[in-house]
Amino acid sequence: YVYAYACIIIILLLSFVFSSGHLLLFLFALGFVSTEEENVISTAGSTAELSCIYTSVEKFKLNKLRVYWQIQNGSKLIVVHTFVSGYENQSEQSRDFRNRTRLFKDKLENGTFSLLLLNVSLRDEHTYRCIVQKKENVFKVIHKAVVALKVAVNNSLPVLSGPVGTRPSIGEDMTLSCNYSQGYPKPNVYWINGTDNSFLHPSSLNITQDTDGTYSVFSTLKMKATSNIKIECIIENELLQQNLTAIYLEDITNSNATKDSLIDLNKPGAQAGSVVAIAVVLVGLVVLTCWLWKRKSFHRESYTDVQQNEDGGQCNAQRIILSSPI
Ligand SMILES: *[C@@H]1O[C@H](CO)[C@@H](O)[C@H](O)[C@H]1NC(C)=O
Ligand SMILES: *[C@@H]1O[C@H](CO)[C@@H](O)[C@H](O)[C@H]1NC(C)=O
Ligand SMILES: *[C@@H]1O[C@H](CO)[C@@H](O)[C@H](O)[C@H]1NC(C)=O
Ligand SMILES: *[C@@H]1O[C@H](CO)[C@@H](O)[C@H](O)[C@H]1NC(C)=O
Ligand SMILES: *[C@@H]1O[C@H](CO)[C@@H](O)[C@H](O)[C@H]1NC(C)=O
Ligand SMILES: *[C@@H]1O[C@H](CO)[C@@H](O)[C@H](O)[C@H]1NC(C)=O
Ligand SMILES: *[C@@H]1O[C@H](CO)[C@@H](O)[C@H](O)[C@H]1NC(C)=O
Ligand SMILES: *[C@@H]1O[C@H](CO)[C@@H](O)[C@H](O)[C@H]1NC(C)=O
Repeated sequence: YVYAYACIIIILLLSFVFSSGHLLLFLFALGFVSTEEENVISTAGSTAELSCIYTSVEKFKLNKLRVYWQIQNGSKLIVVHTFVSGYENQSEQSRDFRNRTRLFKDKLENGTFSLLLLNVSLRDEHTYRCIVQKKENVFKVIHKAVVALKVAVNNSLPVLSGPVGTRPSIGEDMTLSCNYSQGYPKPNVYWINGTDNSFLHPSSLNITQDTDGTYSVFSTLKMKATSNIKIECIIENELLQQNLTAIYLEDITNSNATKDSLIDLNKPGAQAGSVVAIAVVLVGLVVLTCWLWKRKSFHRESYTDVQQNEDGGQCNAQRIILSSPI
């Protein structure tokens, strides 16, 4: 019955404390009262929406409403946003959040106390608490929400580079390097042979953390050049469930053949293309002419008759093209 005692004490405390909203805030801050926590994932530079919604049919009067958004840093309470009796009071707001917070003002009376946090950065990773009070005789807490904000950084793409200038020949050693800068959280790095989708072991892999908390990757892969090279460097961001892929492509044996086939394609291919184009235009013109002509001569007949005649006209047109001297 230790639990029963704890419950009774908490209930007594709560009923005592209900008369003083600020004391309750203090209790929330101590984590005395727990609420279900929601996770929000946001990318650096974007706008995060921290949800705090009270569903009721009741319309709130703004001058009888207090909305507090705050975080707890050790024993210190940090004010993120306050809305008191119809006004947003910036005097107690932490400088870190100045000009970056917005409430949905037109939806407050409907019970939407959610907060928009603009231009999110890694330093905004906190657990945010929303506390809403309504004045009857005194201010009473009517709603609370806890939102844990997780921030991912993916402002860059990986860069995969191979030997510069010289073209490797088959069997020769070559080194590829994969570069990725300033991601968060710590990324997973995969090297993959794109021709058979097998995993490759990198010759070196360095993941370093910068002073701003982000991670950068420098990894190299030594390999023997084959006729067809397709190597992928994949940077996985587990928080975003996102893979960023850089691909290295090199076709060594077929370098001459590719050029030859390109020439092949360019000359007769282009000619064939223009013949087809001219034929299509001719067919179109002939069909149109036939159709207009038939339509004119049978304009008193029923619609289905006209259609049958059109089909006949198309057949004629095709015959004309087939025998045309191209
Ligand atoms: C904002 O809050 C401070 C301290 O609570 C108070 O002194 C000040 O008058 C308030 N300003 C407005 C505009 O309500
Ligand atoms: C907030 O915006 C005001 C006016 O737009 C500006 O004067 C002030 O310097 C800004 N504060 C911060 C901390 O950016
Ligand atoms: C608030 O709710 C009322 C109905 O209860 C609705 O008509 C109104 O559009 C809502 N306002 C907003 C801003 O959603
Ligand atoms: C967003 O925040 C970063 C620092 O976190 C700052 O360098 C940048 O100027 C801000 N961008 C805007 C549009 O305020
Ligand atoms: C980062 O992730 C967001 C959300 O998944 C996406 O919209 C954006 O394009 C990504 N940025 C880069 C550079 O891949
Ligand atoms: C790639 O890595 C090298 C060496 O670490 C560095 O000097 C270079 O700036 C990086 N390039 C990019 C695009 O990140
Ligand atoms: C990213 O690619 C790796 C390697 O192919 C794979 O194991 C992983 O499941 C992929 N992750 C996502 C989020 O697609
Ligand atoms: C490609 O062409 C060059 C000269 O045109 C020739 O020396 C070389 O052997 C050819 N390579 C292949 C793989 O056919």
